[in-house]
Amino acid sequence: MASGVRVTFLPDNVTVMATAGEAMLTVAKRAGVEIPTGCLMGSCHACEVELGDPEGGEPTTVCACISAIPGDRAALTIDLAFDPSW
Ligand code: FES
Repeated sequence: MASGVRVTFLPDNVTVMATAGEAMLTVAKRAGVEIPTGCLMGSCHACEVELGDPEGGEPTTVCACISAIPGDRAALTIDLAFDPSW
C-alpha cells in the first residue's frame, strides 16, 4: 500500500491525508478547498497552484487539474493564493 502524504492547503491551512498519485483536485475537494478551474486539460492555467519544496527551495508551479500528489515526500503544501488575478 502506498504511504500517505499529508497535504496542507494554503492560505487557509487545511490539512488532509492523501495518497501518492491521487488527483490534486480530488484531494482539494475532500479538504473542502476550492481550486478554480477552467479547461481541465492543462491549457488555461486557471487552476495553477504552487507546490512547496520540502527542501526549502523554489516552489514549483503546476496546473492542479492535471497534477497528482507526488510520492516522493511525506508532506506537501499546496498554495492557492499566489495568483490573485484568477
Ligand atoms: S483547468 Fe485549465 S489548466 Fe487546469
